[in-house]
Amino acid sequence: MTKFCVVGSLNMDMVTRVERFPQPGETLTGLSFNIFPGGKGANQAVALARLGARVEMVGALGDDVLGNRYAQILAEARIGMAAVAREAEVSTGTASIEVSAAGENHIVIVAGANALVQPARVEAARPIIETCASLLLQLEIPMESVLAAARIAKAAGLAVILDPAPARELPAELYPLVSVITPNEHEARLLTGEDCSTEAGIARAGKRLCEMGAACAIIKAGPRGAFIVQGTSCKRIPGFAVKVVDTTAAGDSFNAGLALALAEGRELPEAVRFANAVGALSTTREGAQSAMPSLEEARALVAKAGA
Ligand code: RIB
Repeated sequence: MTKFCVVGSLNMDMVTRVERFPQPGETLTGLSFNIFPGGKGANQAVALARLGARVEMVGALGDDVLGNRYAQILAEARIGMAAVAREAEVSTGTASIEVSAAGENHIVIVAGANALVQPARVEAARPIIETCASLLLQLEIPMESVLAAARIAKAAGLAVILDPAPARELPAELYPLVSVITPNEHEARLLTGEDCSTEAGIARAGKRLCEMGAACAIIKAGPRGAFIVQGTSCKRIPGFAVKVVDTTAAGDSFNAGLALALAEGRELPEAVRFANAVGALSTTREGAQSAMPSLEEARALVAKAGA
């Protein structure tokens, strides 16, 4: 079975549901509170596992109560944890999240142990990374470690799928190591300076990302779906209409679906359609990993919409 490697973050998400977001200086009464496992890296790992894939995780947890609980969650999801370190001096990463009635979110992360995923850690995981077919990356660990992982993967012939989130500038050296870069409109704008509110702007941003060295850019555009840009070609793959409860980790779920479909040898439009379905389904339930769909659910949505 194809194996995937995720090098990235693990956070415990502290989620408060609110009718609306508070103004600066305002105190609001929330509707509910929950603690869910999250972090962009682990979300992608768990989404892949939920889709039936074998996954190895490279990252770090604090040696604390949250870390203990998280380690249990990864074990239950059958994710390879040989390269997940436990750090004594720092807390497990956390994210404070508010989710509005419309399902939109505000997120504040504290890196904690994620900041200690240094290049040496990634290098130590080289033997694990090299046994995988694809590497999934995001930006909640140090940038040098993202770069180190991409170098190892590129040299070993893995597909490298980079989610440039949360939005940060990227070193020029990273782009040519990347098979597919998957920013949302906001991230694409930060990386390229192009206004991505129009299709023409998205096409320009995608072209720019390819010029910088990425083999392909897939720009996630929420309910509008996603745009596949390769050089001067730009194709929109429409999204799925679902009843949105919580958009947290929709992008992470999308990337897991994309990685799986590409590793199965699907053409880009079909792979992005499947990824759109995985992302859409993850918005119909609360939380990040708690919301991720099974392979059957994702295939059923694709089939239903195509019927
Ligand atoms: O992409 C969603 C994730 O972003 C959340 O789970 C939170 O932990 C933040 O990292």
